[in-house]
Amino acid sequence: MKSRRNDLVNSKRKRSASDREMSSGESHTTPEGETGVRDTLTRRKFFATVGAITGGIAIGIPPIGAKAVELAAPEEKSAGNLHPVELMINGKRHTLSLDPRVTLLDALRDKLDLTGTKKGCDRGECGACTVLVNGHRILSCLSLAIAHGGDEITTVEGLAKDGELHPLQAAFIEYDGFQCGYCTPGQLCSAVALMSEAKKGDASSMTKDLGAVGPVDLTPDEIRERMSGNICRCGAYPGILRAVQSTYRKV
Ligand code: FES
Ligand code: FES
Repeated sequence: MKSRRNDLVNSKRKRSASDREMSSGESHTTPEGETGVRDTLTRRKFFATVGAITGGIAIGIPPIGAKAVELAAPEEKSAGNLHPVELMINGKRHTLSLDPRVTLLDALRDKLDLTGTKKGCDRGECGACTVLVNGHRILSCLSLAIAHGGDEITTVEGLAKDGELHPLQAAFIEYDGFQCGYCTPGQLCSAVALMSEAKKGDASSMTKDLGAVGPVDLTPDEIRERMSGNICRCGAYPGILRAVQSTYRKV
């Protein structure tokens, strides 16, 4: 019992001696018995250094003695890794030099100033970035621009022809198919493709008669199902549905 208490006292003494060394930066003996100099960075100095660095970043001063944080976009960081790509957008050819990692959405918005196509989630969940590629709707945030050389890309800017709105655009206005309008370019592109899919007879999980040939009857359930990838935070769904139905009957 007595020897156990002595052991405890000795170990406490050792620990407090080691603590003193840490805070003063004095030399110490390692567990292996070698004498070395412990890092002279005390807790107080450490917090003072971190505070100076983060404070500098907040007000835009590069941190002293620390590697500057690189905030450049991927394409700026890899200027040597640019590839030529030709994109045919709304009937116009564009020649670009792009980092292979740039998405079609970012190429449209940031390189070509076609900002009608919107970035919502940037991960394939909201449909705001929907565009048409060779007549099919795709999510441009999930597609690399470099993969679309030679494709016919249509964005919301390309729906109107000769100053005339696309019939669906006119119907969106007539039936109040939007509120803030953020999702609207994606809704329009998606619905344009939806109508041509239905005209061709493509079935959806709501189609009752899978053996039928010819255009699909676009019931409200058909439209809801086929537009389910396009989210509207304003809840303009009833207007969108009526706009699609009425346009489908006319085109
Ligand atoms: Fe592409 Fe949301 S931004 S799906
Ligand atoms: Fe506002 Fe759809 S109109 S998100």
